[in-house]
Amino acid sequence: MAAEDIIAKLRAAAPVIAPSLLASDFAHLAEEIRRLEEAGAHVLHLDIMDGHFVPNLSFGFPVIEAIRRSTRLPLDVHLMISEPGRYLSRFRAAGADLLTIHVEAVDDPRPLLREIRRLGAVAGLTLNPPTPIQAVEPYLGDCDLVLVMSVAAGFGGQEFEPQAADRLRRLRAEGGNDLLLSVDGGINDHTIGLCAEAGARLFVTGSALFAHHDYRQVMEEFRNLALAHKNLQA
Ligand code: DX5
Ligand code: ZN
Repeated sequence: MAAEDIIAKLRAAAPVIAPSLLASDFAHLAEEIRRLEEAGAHVLHLDIMDGHFVPNLSFGFPVIEAIRRSTRLPLDVHLMISEPGRYLSRFRAAGADLLTIHVEAVDDPRPLLREIRRLGAVAGLTLNPPTPIQAVEPYLGDCDLVLVMSVAAGFGGQEFEPQAADRLRRLRAEGGNDLLLSVDGGINDHTIGLCAEAGARLFVTGSALFAHHDYRQVMEEFRNLALAHKNLQA
């Protein structure tokens, strides 16, 4: 699917719960993906960690390729790696539809964001909680998506940092409606409303979703909470 179509579909489907496969059962990945599709997922979030940019390792190209073969859902690939520019075309070839780089990982994100777009993927930029919001602001024009980290990148199951809401609000005001805002880390039934009210439209959800058996029920519950808060704001 073309990047513009993916953006349009995600926008139309918002609020979107983006399951983070990091918290899924890797021994039964195809089955997990099938269950997420049946539960109504619109996108899958893939966390790539290199043991260098973050102190943890996750998975790489062969696993992304295997996921790509298992689903037609857009793959939202979150690169927690140093020197992401070295690998963008390989991630795209492996099946990434959205590619998000960390602003802390590069000197100048602009050429990389442009390369992501040139490769036909949705261009995303993200920042960790301690990084000043000013670090991403000059690049909003080259981004389709900004991912606000509400935990320090590197591990699932951490506690939500509420300052993320202020960042979402500010980015929403600056980036306008064209910018897709996503939030990642510690999203659950207590935190999703705040993020929705602050302007997030995509909600990356790992441990809080996979802790339950009925993915559809949790995704609907979370989505309804996000909708309720979005409506309150309107
Ligand atoms: C953290 C990852 C997240 C993580 C979210 O480094 O970017 O996507 O999987 O997991 P939860 O929802 O458990 O915080
Ligand atoms: Zn992530």
